[in-house]
Amino acid sequence: MIELLWEWLNFAARWLHVITGIAWIGSSFYFIALDLSLKKREGLPAGVYGDTWQVHGGGFYHMMKYTVAPATMPEELTWFKWESYATWLSGFFLICVLYYGSPELFLIDRSVADLAPWQAIGIGIAGLVLGWIVYDQLCKSPVGKNDLVLYAVLFVFVVVIGWAFTQVFSGRGAFIHTGALIATIMSANVVMIIIPNQKKVVASLLKGETPDPALGLQAKQRSTHNNYLTLPVLFLMLSNHYPLAYGTQYNWIIIALVLVMGYTIRHFFNSIHAGKAKPWWTWPATIILFIIAMWLSQAGPPQRGEEAASLPNAVSQKLVASADFDAVRDVVTGRCSMCHAREPVWEGLAHAPKSVYLEEDADIARHAEQIYVQAARSNAMPPGNVTELEPADRELLARWYEMATGQPRHLLW
Ligand code: HEC
Repeated sequence: MIELLWEWLNFAARWLHVITGIAWIGSSFYFIALDLSLKKREGLPAGVYGDTWQVHGGGFYHMMKYTVAPATMPEELTWFKWESYATWLSGFFLICVLYYGSPELFLIDRSVADLAPWQAIGIGIAGLVLGWIVYDQLCKSPVGKNDLVLYAVLFVFVVVIGWAFTQVFSGRGAFIHTGALIATIMSANVVMIIIPNQKKVVASLLKGETPDPALGLQAKQRSTHNNYLTLPVLFLMLSNHYPLAYGTQYNWIIIALVLVMGYTIRHFFNSIHAGKAKPWWTWPATIILFIIAMWLSQAGPPQRGEEAASLPNAVSQKLVASADFDAVRDVVTGRCSMCHAREPVWEGLAHAPKSVYLEEDADIARHAEQIYVQAARSNAMPPGNVTELEPADRELLARWYEMATGQPRHLLW
C-alpha cells in the first residue's frame, strides 16, 4: 500500500514539476523575445526604452519597457518569480522522493563508487549548495567583468562538476544532479539576485533617489545566463528516460555538448527575435553536435556503451528459437525477475517497474529490445547493478539479440 502511495506521490510531484517548469520557461522565453523585439522610436513617454506591438488571442498588445522604472509606480504590479520558485521546490521534492528515497536504485552504482545511501545523498545536496556558491563567487569576481571570459569559465566549471558527479554516481544520478545544479543556479539567480535587485531599484525610486545602475546590469547578466541554460537543463532532466545518453563512459562529454547545443539553439532564436540576420549555421552545428553525442554514447567498452534498435514482432520466434535462449532465460530469471515480476519479490516494489514483466519466455521475447538497450548495451539495468550482472552476461544478451534480429553492432558505421 505504501509503495502505491509513494508511486502516486512521485507522479503528482512530477506533474506539478512539469507544469511549473512550463510556466517558468515559457515566461522566460516570452520575456526574452519581448525584450529583444523592442524598438526605439520618437515620441515614446519619458523613461521608455522602446515599444513593440503584438497580437494574440483576438487582441492587440502594445508593450513598452521602462529601463529603470516609470516615474510613478503603478498600483498593481505582477512579479514573475513564483514560476521559478515553484519549479525548484517541486523539483527538489521529486529528487527527494525518487533519488534520495531510493538511492540504491537510482543514485548509487557500485561499479562507479561504493557509497552508503547517506553519503550519496550528502554528496548530492552538498554539490548543489557548493555549486551555487562557486558560481555566484565567479560572477562577482574580476572574471565576471568580461561576459565572454565568464561564459568560458562557467562552461568549464559546469563540465567539471558534471564529470565529478559521473565519478561518484550512476550515469542517471550524475545527469539529474548536473541538471539540478544548473536549475539551482537559475532559481537562485532569481531569488538571490534578480528579484532583490529589482526591489532595491523600486525602493530607491520610491524614495526619490536614482537607483544604482550596477543593480540592473548584474540582474541582466544573471538573466542572460538563465536564458542560455534553459535548454540544457531540460535535456538533462529528460535524459533520465534515455539511458543511451547517460549510460555511457563518455556521458560527461555529452553534458559539455548539450551546453553548447543549448547555446546554438538559443542564439538562433535570440537573433531572429532581435530582428537580426538569421544565423542558419546554428542548425547544422547543433545537428553535428547531436550526432557526436550519439556516437559517444556507443563508443567505449561495450557494457558501458549502448544503442537503440527496433524489433518487429515477427522476430520473436527467432529470438526464442536462438541457441543462446536457454542461457538468456537463466540470466533474466536470475537477475531481473525479482523486480520485473507480476508479483515482485524485491522489497519495496509493489508492482513491476514500468510494468515491464520478465518472467515467461514470451515476456523476454516481447521486451528483447528493451533488455538489449537497458542491460546489454548499457548498464542502466539492473539499477546500480544490484543483482550483479556480469559483463559476460551482458555480452551474452547482446549477442543473442544481435544474432537473432540481424542488428548491426554499431549504429553509426
Ligand atoms: C532491483 C530491481 C530491478 C532489477 C533487479 C531489474 N530492474 Fe529493470 N527496472 C527497475 C526499475 C526501478 C525501473 C524503472 C526505472 C525508471 O523509472 O526509469 C526498471 C525499468 C526497466 C525497464 C524499462 C525502462 C524504461 O525506461 O522503459 C526495462 C526494460 C528493464 N527495467 C529491464 C531490466 C532487465 C533486463 C533486468 C535484468 C538484467 C532488470 N531490469 C533488473 C528495477 C529493476
